[in-house]
Amino acid sequence: MSADGHQPASHGPEPREFSHPALWTIGLVAIIGALGWVFFHQIAAGKEKAKGEPAYALPRKASGPDHQALIADRSPAVLDRGEVLYGKNCASCHGPNGDGNPANITPVPRNFHTEALKNPLGSGPYAWYEVLTKGYGTGMPGFRNLTPEDRYAVAHFIRERWVKPNPAIYVENDAPEVAKQIPAKGGAAGEVAVDLDKVAPPAAILPAMAQSADKGVAEQVAVAAWLQRARTAGPGLAGLAAAGELVERQPGTGARWLALARRGDAAALAAALATGDGGMPAAPGLAILGRDDLQHLATRLVAAASGTAP
Ligand code: HEC
Repeated sequence: MSADGHQPASHGPEPREFSHPALWTIGLVAIIGALGWVFFHQIAAGKEKAKGEPAYALPRKASGPDHQALIADRSPAVLDRGEVLYGKNCASCHGPNGDGNPANITPVPRNFHTEALKNPLGSGPYAWYEVLTKGYGTGMPGFRNLTPEDRYAVAHFIRERWVKPNPAIYVENDAPEVAKQIPAKGGAAGEVAVDLDKVAPPAAILPAMAQSADKGVAEQVAVAAWLQRARTAGPGLAGLAAAGELVERQPGTGARWLALARRGDAAALAAALATGDGGMPAAPGLAILGRDDLQHLATRLVAAASGTAP
């Protein structure tokens, strides 16, 4: 007690704190619940209010690509860009040279050097654009993630570098009935100008299309079966795996080898195995084989081919 009779300042009883965890939890849940109710209630009220009003659509800009300009521009700069795009987007399935199937998928990706396109728009630049936009069949994805400029660039690269040397399948431009449907410059942004399923292919190219497709697939099946027979005919053979890999990348080479084997021409087959084919270098795994090994491999392959239908 102090001299002036006052009580020294002392703390009274602490105020009760609402700090029990259960209280906080209940409080927060209640707040969240209330906010949630307000949120959904507002949405429901908005919907109710908007009933009967026309749906809001983003204004469609007339921003379609200038197809004619993009189709015409096959300059080296465009082809170079297409080459880079090809490596990034297509090589995994079509092979680095456009003639392979490195991922072993079926249906087999198109061999751009030897096969015409199968889609009903044909093989012209706009047909390519549509395939690249929408995909084709079950195995070929669409590439809407690429800009229209890029889709044309990669198409031009493949067409000008790989398809053009083969006059049997190269067409410089789309057939007139397809060209008519190419959207005008600045047309609607939509890409659905042509329904692939509703356009008939030019009748004149139908037989060639069917033939090249069937022949390509049948040949590859025959080559694969042939190599498989050679593989199972005896103990491992130097070069056989390398031959198999090469054939996967160059189906045409496999077909030519098989033709030699069917003729029973082991010497010519050995030479072809060693030196490559049609300007293509041999597989490294084959080029290093000695004469005896090559001869042995060729003999085994000839034996495995006997009795297979030509
Ligand atoms: C995931 C694998 C895959 C990728 C990636 C791929 N393709 Fe294909 N592509 C295929 C397959 C499989 C086919 C054959 C489809 C069929 O015959 O049904 C095909 C077919 C095609 C065709 C032929 C269509 C026709 O009308 O016959 C073209 C052209 C084509 N691809 C271009 C490209 C280009 C260009 C790229 C890269 C931008 C690309 N592909 C990337 C798998 C692929």
